[in-house]
Amino acid sequence: MFLLKNSFRNSFAIDLGTNNTLVYQPKKGIILEEATSLSFDKQRKEFFNFGNSSKKMLGKSPQNIEVMRPLSKGAISNLTSAKEYIKNLIKQIPKPLFSKPNIFVSVPSDLNYMERNAVIEAGKSGGAKNVFLIKDPFSAAIGFLKDISNPNGILVLDIGAGVSEISLLSCNGIVMSKSLRVAGNDIDEAIVEYFKNAKRVLISLSDAEMLKKELGDMMGKEEKTLCISVKNLITHMPENFEASSKDVQKAIKPIMDKIVALSRSMIESLPSAFLTDIYDQGILLTGGSSMLANLDRYLSLELQVDVKVVDTPLQNIILGAGAISESSLYHSLVSA
Ligand SMILES: Nc1ncnc2c1ncn2[C@@H]1O[C@H](COP(=O)(O)OP(=O)(O)OP(=O)(O)O)[C@@H](O)[C@H]1O
Ligand SMILES: [Mg+2]
Repeated sequence: MFLLKNSFRNSFAIDLGTNNTLVYQPKKGIILEEATSLSFDKQRKEFFNFGNSSKKMLGKSPQNIEVMRPLSKGAISNLTSAKEYIKNLIKQIPKPLFSKPNIFVSVPSDLNYMERNAVIEAGKSGGAKNVFLIKDPFSAAIGFLKDISNPNGILVLDIGAGVSEISLLSCNGIVMSKSLRVAGNDIDEAIVEYFKNAKRVLISLSDAEMLKKELGDMMGKEEKTLCISVKNLITHMPENFEASSKDVQKAIKPIMDKIVALSRSMIESLPSAFLTDIYDQGILLTGGSSMLANLDRYLSLELQVDVKVVDTPLQNIILGAGAISESSLYHSLVSA
């Protein structure tokens, strides 16, 4: 803990997510929001593009360029690109000349030993002096509640891009946690598959994500449509296609069923001492996918428990990780 005590100066918090990475500077707040993506030039054998500008090239780059995602389903899947990605992040953060910052990285709580080590190795070789890990459920809860030290059960459901994780917290600790490596990216892929099989048209992943955000509605009664460009899989020709909210809903449902099943199994296994807390306060819903229209109402009906979406689902984890990184009050939530 001595190391940690002296690490709060020149420190930054990072929410290293499958799709989005955010950086927090103590006393300043969020200073960077970038896609977790970088591009590699195969001819020159060098990385050359980083973050949002790299993500924009996805599916549109020439053959010699590979748009890479260092993370898959919440864990580092390509260590070389993760090191390069973190090096780029650290290059961008303001710090005294020649000094190496300490970084507090928020990661899913279900990462195994090797996956956790990969984050530490990527951080250190990317230029960090020390790398401390914070489990996402702590960041999520602190981001919204500030204090989790009481013997009061808090149930947090984080649905991001690659991982869905539900955790019971109490007395500054994780009592139990269940996760599924299924989340927003799987919804996008399910939408592409649905249109391929049911409508015989091919749509891009980015259009699938756009349809999810524009037409997806877990309680949607009224039918909405949106025109997108597709490839007709029978004629092999491009055409304009009217996508309907009913179809988007059908595609999303099987993925949501898995997340409902995960949450239900958590509620069923809650220790009885926490039942009153959870039925009084409900579930806190966070992560970008919690912005799917009416997901809170849907989950509440399915699980028979109140569900409340946090104020800023895409920033909640980094705000919590940031608070943890800047106050010694939260020392016990950090893995040194
Ligand atoms: N309005 C919206 N409706 C539905 N989904 C949304 C909306 N806005 C963002 N999302 C989804 O949120 C996800 C990104 O959320 P977030 O940034 O929390 O994930 P992440 O932290 O990168 O991933 P993970 O925590 O799983 O590693 C994407 O799948 C995105 O499509
Ligand atoms: Mg996340």
